[in-house]
Amino acid sequence: MFKATMTSVGEIFMKNIIHTVVLLTLIGVSAPAAAANPAPAYEGRRLYVSYCQLCHGTDGKGDGPLAKAMKISPANLNTTVRSRSDTILTKIITGEGRQTITGRDRHNLLSEAMPEWKDVFTELQVKSLIAYLRFLGRSKHELMGDPEHGMQLYQQYCQVCHGVEGDGDGIMTSLMGIMPMDHTNPNETESLSNEEIANSILDGKQRFMPAWRDILNQDDVEALVSYIRLLSH
Ligand code: HEC
Ligand code: HEC
Repeated sequence: MFKATMTSVGEIFMKNIIHTVVLLTLIGVSAPAAAANPAPAYEGRRLYVSYCQLCHGTDGKGDGPLAKAMKISPANLNTTVRSRSDTILTKIITGEGRQTITGRDRHNLLSEAMPEWKDVFTELQVKSLIAYLRFLGRSKHELMGDPEHGMQLYQQYCQVCHGVEGDGDGIMTSLMGIMPMDHTNPNETESLSNEEIANSILDGKQRFMPAWRDILNQDDVEALVSYIRLLSH
């Protein structure tokens, strides 16, 4: 994290480094493909599990164990965040500028029991948290398995075709002339139930989506389904 105390010289130096890294990434010179950043909602869920679910509950409904102990009742994030902009959510989470929130957005959210996280998270981490809150608000489907286990399996078995980011441009697509499903596109994944995705993984689909029944067990498949869900948010 870059603290406000950083000298301006140091700041310029950091900026240059960041520019260089961004440039290298843009022209594709940086780390090997497998080291791509995880999807924001995936990263956001990891942070949520560690920092938020004690109060807001495993699925955002507000019934976490700490909330009960503190006798507070955080709102159901599944519904409240829908009407809030990213800017408002950033203010709520970081605490910075909370006092400037007005109107409908003010309702209920200025409780002192909601910690101010500005010194804990980077800007990128706050964005990831918001992406996960958006997933909670927008997706009709629950996470049925452990996405962290799912990511490992995805990297091991799926990204050769579905791509590092899950958008369907894996190394084998050009070798074989195939077009796997784009798992980052919610229009493609939202219409499928968890069960339908799980069955496609177990039984395969069309000619080139292999059946994994003999390689993966039910837990593995459920983990993969939940990882795929997070890829599209
Ligand atoms: C110590 C308990 C606690 C923890 C930990 C906590 N919150 Fe909260 N949060 C609250 C309370 C209480 C409120 C205010 C009541 C409400 O939900 O409207 C709140 C409100 C919110 C709201 C506004 C809800 C709305 O009305 O739209 C958001 C968004 C939110 N928290 C996100 C987070 C995130 C993200 C984390 C983890 C980084 C987190 N909270 C951690 C207690 C907590
Ligand atoms: C050999 C390449 C290949 C590999 C490896 C592969 N897939 Fe696929 N996958 C495809 C293709 C091609 C399609 C599109 C099938 C079609 O035309 O409907 C697809 C489609 C899918 C679909 C959409 C199915 C539907 O119901 O429409 C899911 C979900 C999926 N793959 C998950 C996975 C998972 C999870 C893995 C790793 C365990 C994996 N795939 C590995 C090629 C692959």
